[in-house]
Amino acid sequence: MATINKNYLKLPGSYLFSGIAKSVHEYETSHPDADVIRLGIGDVTQPIASAVIRALHAAVDEMGQADTFHGYAPDLGYSFLRDAIAREDYQARGCDIAADEIFVSDGAKSDCGNLQEIFGTDNRIAVCDPVYPVYVDANVMAGRTGEYDRVEQRFQGVTYMSCTEDNGFAPELPEEQADLIYLCFPNNPTGAVIKKDQLQRFVDYAREHGSVILYDAAYEAYISEDDVPHSIYECEGAQECAIESRSFSKTAGFTGLRLGYTVVPKKLVIEGTSLRDLWARRHGTKFNGAPYIVQKAGEAVYSDEGRAQVREQIAYYMENARIIREGLADAGYTAYGGVNAPYIWLRIPEGMTSWGFFDMLLDKARVVGTPGVGFGPHGEGYFRLTAFGSRENTIRAMERIRKI
Ligand code: MLT
Repeated sequence: MATINKNYLKLPGSYLFSGIAKSVHEYETSHPDADVIRLGIGDVTQPIASAVIRALHAAVDEMGQADTFHGYAPDLGYSFLRDAIAREDYQARGCDIAADEIFVSDGAKSDCGNLQEIFGTDNRIAVCDPVYPVYVDANVMAGRTGEYDRVEQRFQGVTYMSCTEDNGFAPELPEEQADLIYLCFPNNPTGAVIKKDQLQRFVDYAREHGSVILYDAAYEAYISEDDVPHSIYECEGAQECAIESRSFSKTAGFTGLRLGYTVVPKKLVIEGTSLRDLWARRHGTKFNGAPYIVQKAGEAVYSDEGRAQVREQIAYYMENARIIREGLADAGYTAYGGVNAPYIWLRIPEGMTSWGFFDMLLDKARVVGTPGVGFGPHGEGYFRLTAFGSRENTIRAMERIRKI
């Protein structure tokens, strides 16, 4: 008789953003004339840069000719893209990362969910609280956690590192042995960043404790302040203890195209085994790569024209972030983030729950955001808005919020 993976049953509900999409769908069904503005999921709204579109068209045409047709992509990614990533995202910033340490994928979300597969189920994970739910959910499915405690709103057997206003939403080091440490900076959902000396402390902890840091740098392109690290490999010794994932989704508008990558340095060896080789083995078998045409689109992001156009898009979203931050301040809210990240994390009024605020905002302003508690218990009392809307909708949303 077939059996199911019972770890899935530990998950208390559906994926956060699927649950929100369902609530919004129900609301729209019962209010068919409502003009709902979505600032919930971090999905981009601006069209793909023209340099990238040109590359896509050219690649599609190549697929229609026998002499330029491409079949299976190399399972670790095409070298034209891996070379560009190594050169532009790492070597240009002084990080000694080579192309053969880069694995091209269909997005950072897949990588963040799948990376845990190369580790034993006896590893203890440490996550920030609040946190992007993919890290915990994937480890629950793999059986690396205990049951969900509905009172504490936490999984047993997981180390939660509190990120609060008091610590500037930057976690303290785990107090107990943590084997796999998930960090995301610029942070989703708080929009906070970590300074290099703080990050170095995590690297030092990992080296001392034999831990691995899984560093999600999906929002790196939004960093505007000079003293914020763009990569964990700016820290000394990080190549011996850290894996980093990045995405073209938020940087270049690829949420619908799907492209990302993960860096697994050759120096990262656990129990005498190269994690790079394990991840390569995983890619070879359970391919999660990206098609040729999408990788050509990714290559175009590194051209002079592509780079300039993508910078303009990031500036566009960051102007939205400014409009949201200032609008919230006018409306009397305390808000964080939105300076080095496309997320704004606002404190909701005393006495409300973050789901109560979600319902109120949808009902009174027809604006969708994300309840903070969906990211963990320390998210209760907060609410996330994204800067990824169109300019017009961002302005309209803030006008409506000011009027509540
Ligand atoms: C977010 O809104 O946090 C992300 O875009 C959701 C995702 O990548 O699944």
